[in-house]
Order: sequence, then structure tokens, then C-alpha cells
Amino acid sequence: MTYETLLIEIDGPVAVITLNRPDALNALNDKLVTELTDALNGFEKDASIGCVVVTGAGRAFAAGADIKEMRVQSYMDAYGNDFITRNWERASTFRKPIIAAVNGFALGGGCELAMMCDFILASDAAKFGQPEINLGVMPGAGGTQRLTRFVGKSKAMEMCLTGRMMDAAEAERSGLVSRVVPAADLLNEAKAVAKKIASQSRPIAMMTKESVNAAYETMLRQGMMFERRLFHSMFATNDQKEGMNAFVDKRPPKFSNS
Ligand code: CAA
Repeated sequence: MTYETLLIEIDGPVAVITLNRPDALNALNDKLVTELTDALNGFEKDASIGCVVVTGAGRAFAAGADIKEMRVQSYMDAYGNDFITRNWERASTFRKPIIAAVNGFALGGGCELAMMCDFILASDAAKFGQPEINLGVMPGAGGTQRLTRFVGKSKAMEMCLTGRMMDAAEAERSGLVSRVVPAADLLNEAKAVAKKIASQSRPIAMMTKESVNAAYETMLRQGMMFERRLFHSMFATNDQKEGMNAFVDKRPPKFSNS
């Protein structure tokens, strides 16, 4: 796969997608989000890929929607072309594990894209924010909803209303990111975590992420029911037998992804 706005690296079962418009701080234009959707469609189908990492080239993960492209849109352009909904949200429906490795600015749509992934690993140089209010709009790719679920109402409200940025330490303290690592180690650490995830049973990893997402998208009772049904179904897999037998036999499991 070759793209104009993305770099793709395949490292065994891990695919690394690098958003690659560094001169524009990887601002998300229509081309980039369409290419990202296409790449994710491909990796979802590709049985050799077990986990995806998304990161950014240069000093940003992504500094938001491309303001230069967006500023001329009319209401009818946005509504009529189903702006955002049409091609921005594929990461949130991707069925395999997907990690955001945030190396610098993750602002506006960039922060929203990172939050669509399963979890965020941040470098100590990362900066998060929803500065849309400075442009006379508000977050439009899930920021008011996802950021609030991650960090709570008070901090989300302050960030969306003032547009201020959060550094990596604050993002870790408030639950937005899973861990902070030194900038020089970020990509290697993200790949190592992705390889670990890809070494697990693929269907079990997919069901596990579905179940964690249910905690975040449903009420507790429905989420518990969803978890219990998936948990029961895992006893129909070969990988459940293999995983548990391997533990009893004191050997590493050899999952067959079945
Ligand atoms: N869109 C288009 N171009 C952008 C951009 C964006 N979101 N962010 C940065 N760029 C461009 C700049 O215009 C500049 O290009 P030129 O060299 O051609 O002038 C280049 O990237 C480098 O940026 P700066 O010179 O501004 O770099 P800086 O270090 O001085 O500042 C920054 C960095 C604070 C991130 C600043 O670039 C900035 O504030 N960017 C905009 C952030 C923003 O408002 N994001 C929200 C967008 S709206 C949105 O995302 C809506 C939604 O919810 C979907």
C-alpha cells in the first residue's frame, strides 16, 4: 500500500501507520482521513496483521482538522457531505487492537483520532487539547463526548471552553493516556506493546476490546451482560483450551486464532 499522506511499515504482525504531512503538523485533510480509512480497511482484512499503531511524523501526532481546507465550507457543504461521519471515524470501528502513539501535538481532530484508538501511549513531549473554540467552533469528531468520558466533566469542560493544552504528565494523571515514555523510546515501546497484543489469540483480543468498549458505550447492566455472553462464547474456541492447558502443563501457549 502506498499513500500520499501516510507512511506504512509492516513489522511482523504489527502495522505502523504514520500520519505524514509534517509541514502542516499532520493536519487532517480529506485526503489523509480517506487514506487512513482505506489503510484500516486493508489491515482489518489482512490475517497477518494482529495490531495497528498510529503515530505522526515530525513534531505532531496531528494538530487537528486542516483549517485551511475547512475554513471555506458552508453549512450545506458540511451537512450535505456528512463531514466527519463520512470518513473520519474508521479507527473507532476497527475490529483489531489499535494503539495511538502520540509523539507531539494531538489537538482538535488529532486528539479525537487518538481517543478513537483503543489506548494512547504518549511521549513526554505530547500535548493534548481541544482548541476548536479559538476558531469559533467546537470539537466535531467526538471531543466533547470522548474527552469527557476519559477525564471527567470538569477538566473536559475547562479544556473545551478555554482551548488550553494538557501536557503528557497531566494527561496520564487524568486517565487520558495509559503511559508516558521518553520521546526517543515511544515508537519502539508502542511496537513492543503491539507485538505482545498480536501474540495473543486474535479472536480473544478482538472480543476483549469489544467488551472493554461496551463499558464505555453502554450502561453497567448491559455492559455486564455483553461481557458475560462473550466470555461464555470463548469456551467454544480452541484458544481457550490451548491457553488453559498450556498453563497447567507449565508451557507457553501456541494460539491458532481459532
Ligand atoms: N490546519 C492546517 N494547518 C495547520 C494546522 C491545522 N490544524 N495546524 C498547524 N498547521 C500548519 C500551520 O499553518 C503552519 O503552516 P505554514 O508553515 O504554512 O504557516 C505549520 O502547520 C506549522 O504550524 P505553526 O507555524 O503554527 O507551528 P507552531 O509551533 O507555531 O504552533 C500549534 C503549533 C500550536 C499546534 C499551532 O499550529 C496551532 O494552533 N494549530 C492549530 C490547532 C487547532 O486549532 N486545531 C483544531 C483544528 S479544528 C478541528 O480539529 C475540528 C474538529 O474537531 C474535527
